[in-house]
Amino acid sequence: MIQKFDYLVIGSGIAGLSFALKVADHGRVGILAKRSLTDTNTNLAQGGIAAVLGQDDLLEYHVLDTLASGGGLSRLETVKTVVAAGPRMIRELKDLGVPFTAQVDHPDRPELGREGGHSHRRIIHSKDMTGQTVQSVLAERILNHPNITAFDHFLSLDLLQEKDANGQMRVTGAWVLDIAQGEVWAMTAKVTVLATGGSGKVYLYTTNPDGASGDGLAMAWRAGADVANLEFVQFHPTCLFHPQLHNFLISEAVRGEGGRLINSEGVPIMKDHPQGDLACRDVVALAIDTEMKRSGADNVFLDITHRPADFTRDRFPKIYSTCLSLGLDITRQPIPVVPAAHYQCGGIVVNLDGQTTRPGLYAIGEVACTGLHGANRLASNSLLEALVMADRAGAQAVIEAQTVDYPQLAEPYSPWPGGRLGHAPAEAVLITQSWDEIRRFMWNYVGIVRSDQRLTMAAKRLELVKAEIDDFFRNFEVDADLVEVRNIAVVAELIIRSASTRRESRGLHFSLTWPKQDDVNFKRDTILRNPAPPLFPGLSA
Ligand code: SIN
Repeated sequence: MIQKFDYLVIGSGIAGLSFALKVADHGRVGILAKRSLTDTNTNLAQGGIAAVLGQDDLLEYHVLDTLASGGGLSRLETVKTVVAAGPRMIRELKDLGVPFTAQVDHPDRPELGREGGHSHRRIIHSKDMTGQTVQSVLAERILNHPNITAFDHFLSLDLLQEKDANGQMRVTGAWVLDIAQGEVWAMTAKVTVLATGGSGKVYLYTTNPDGASGDGLAMAWRAGADVANLEFVQFHPTCLFHPQLHNFLISEAVRGEGGRLINSEGVPIMKDHPQGDLACRDVVALAIDTEMKRSGADNVFLDITHRPADFTRDRFPKIYSTCLSLGLDITRQPIPVVPAAHYQCGGIVVNLDGQTTRPGLYAIGEVACTGLHGANRLASNSLLEALVMADRAGAQAVIEAQTVDYPQLAEPYSPWPGGRLGHAPAEAVLITQSWDEIRRFMWNYVGIVRSDQRLTMAAKRLELVKAEIDDFFRNFEVDADLVEVRNIAVVAELIIRSASTRRESRGLHFSLTWPKQDDVNFKRDTILRNPAPPLFPGLSA
């Protein structure tokens, strides 16, 4: 089946939904969700959106905080552009009906939260359910827009590319699997946008939802787009440590409201750092990791019991009720927490209009690398970046769509070249288990603390797993799960490649072999281009 759109949007988090709404009055939009329309990373975002709205705050302060967090790699032009657009983005969301939490004494002003690395209160939020609230307002608009068709449970497989009128290859849509029917569609478009979010599922412990398997990144890489800075994986310092719930975030806003990190003896972990518990995430996650290794404990604790119980219940209703359902009353007991993979700071290289290095292909949100986050993202800058880049990419895409013709796919279009889709045989279970294996060695060898030796071990293990996956794809029918496994292996490879070339420690990349920051040689992005040469003997590109 072939479907034709002006704009094809892959991914239904805040970036994809906002983009779709921006362009929908200018043409037909198809938007794809791998699971349900709201099963996204955005939906889990608790903290909020950073924007300068406080009376004592200035855009310059937000710019400086972002640059400081980024460890020397954030791009100044991007930072200024994104920060400057923040207040307008918040106004637009309010106009769409997003109910941000207001100040008790000034109902017309938003209550401003605080998170690590911010010099001022500037986190606009809806209690501790900001992502969910924004997502549901945007999703409702999407479902009611006559020009937008939403497809849920459709997995994108690979990008389509055709020669344009000048003989140049251009991305013209995607091969897409209708998971329920097992059918492959070609969805063609004048402009294709990747808004597929992150890849936290490449690690054993993550705050991300199950769908975060880096599909967009893997597809873009296979299609020849440049990617950058994938060594900078952000580990959120405080994921709930509980046997029944693995990926539940305890928002940094809890520390913003006075929560303190303590070890099992009650000693504050961040006491020696000038910014204390509100230091940047790379610093806090490393401090927790060091403390856990020193004490041999499985976790540390986040203690907010000194704040009035009514305050905690009102400010953090989701965290309070979720923990209570597990038998933990956070108003009376410290919360057991561990760091977990949270955010991919690098991604597909884009310019300030969201255009990738492949004509016809845009990328926005977590999957893209705009230069905003550098070596470590400042808290709550991600939803902001997604909104601003959706706005900018939308404006550019409307112009571009007017200048190109609909793709002329040869009919019948060739079947997806990536593999034979169908019923995976029973042996496929061994390949899906490779996913656990990848997640485990990525956690152990490519986690918060790395070394050349650990990276080499990870590369060797990955080489074996990849060979098995490739062999399976050559010989058997595959299904959606296997497509995700293969994408995760690509993401793992890109992270290992990037981490191995950065022979220094900076931001979220900490190496025991290269513990110092080296501005002379490494104050630059790590750009990867496909095809890439073998990195370690035996590790194929
Ligand atoms: C949090 O609420 O701690 C997460 C916010 C973010 O990742 O920016």
